[in-house]
Amino acid sequence: EVTREFTRNLPKAELHVHIEGTLEPELKLKLAKKNNIEIGQKTIAEVEESLKYDDLASFLAVYYPAMNVLIEEDDFYELAMAYLKKAAQNNVRHAEIFFDPQAHTSRGIAFSTVITGLLRATVDARALNIDACLIMCFLRDLSRESARQTLLEALPYKDKFVGVGLDSDEHNNPPLKFFNQFCTAQEHGLHVTAHADVDQVNSLAHIRELLEVIGVERIDHGTNIVEDPDLVDFAAKNKIGLTSCPLSNDFIAADMKGKEVLELLEKGVKISIHSDDPAYFGGYIGDNYYALAQKYDLTKEQVVALAKNSFEASWISQKQKAFYL
Ligand code: ADE
Ligand code: ZN
Repeated sequence: EVTREFTRNLPKAELHVHIEGTLEPELKLKLAKKNNIEIGQKTIAEVEESLKYDDLASFLAVYYPAMNVLIEEDDFYELAMAYLKKAAQNNVRHAEIFFDPQAHTSRGIAFSTVITGLLRATVDARALNIDACLIMCFLRDLSRESARQTLLEALPYKDKFVGVGLDSDEHNNPPLKFFNQFCTAQEHGLHVTAHADVDQVNSLAHIRELLEVIGVERIDHGTNIVEDPDLVDFAAKNKIGLTSCPLSNDFIAADMKGKEVLELLEKGVKISIHSDDPAYFGGYIGDNYYALAQKYDLTKEQVVALAKNSFEASWISQKQKAFYL
């Protein structure tokens, strides 16, 4: 039987967590007060009351304004350190953490402030036995020009993050909009992943673009791939990682997508379980494993296979992988 302790204690790699999505109500209030930011909420209960959404757009409408409290380098450090402590309690050994620079630079916060604060936390995470690194995401609802500027600004720091991703509102924002940025990132030796959120308009077409044209190594969410057996076959053969987030899916699509996860696991796809925005969707990585295991009656072997996939799909070296597999 799969218990909460079993899912929490299992060694895991976290490959799909947005650092801004780990902003807990308590820290939000503390930073709002320190930085003198009016957020329209004064108590934890009032912040929790604001957490109402049932699809991607309504979630993002709550999510981005909350980030206004992040101003100083220390704020980014504190945010990331708080997350990394939670990750350590969940026996996360390796974390590849998304950050959204445009959500901050668009408010006048310097790119260097964001990345320096986050990076300092990843260094201090070694004391927690976590090997952590960063993935820079482009906001797909902003312009190509904004993504181009962001990549230009980021390239001097290219040894400070391991890859690029693509997130935010997928509607009318296909992956190919950012073809040039993905190419440039790859030319600079960066890894590439991108979101294909669950049950979006044109999900399958977006997944096809990511695999056939852009050549991503992972797809974040991406479970709509089950609609095309040839693409499933391609993903299995080429060890494409799919990072599924059950609690997030339950908010955004009213479905944890456990059936799809099990089918893909069965077909040999490197699918694994992650937390997306844990402060918004009701739980960290262990909670996501446990919720899925409970709802779909997973065996211990299935849970272990998902956790092993998280290391296989990670961007650690083959030698490090051998340690965990
Ligand atoms: N940003 C944070 N979480 C996200 C998600 N699930 N999809 C797209 N963008 C996001
Ligand atoms: Zn995500």
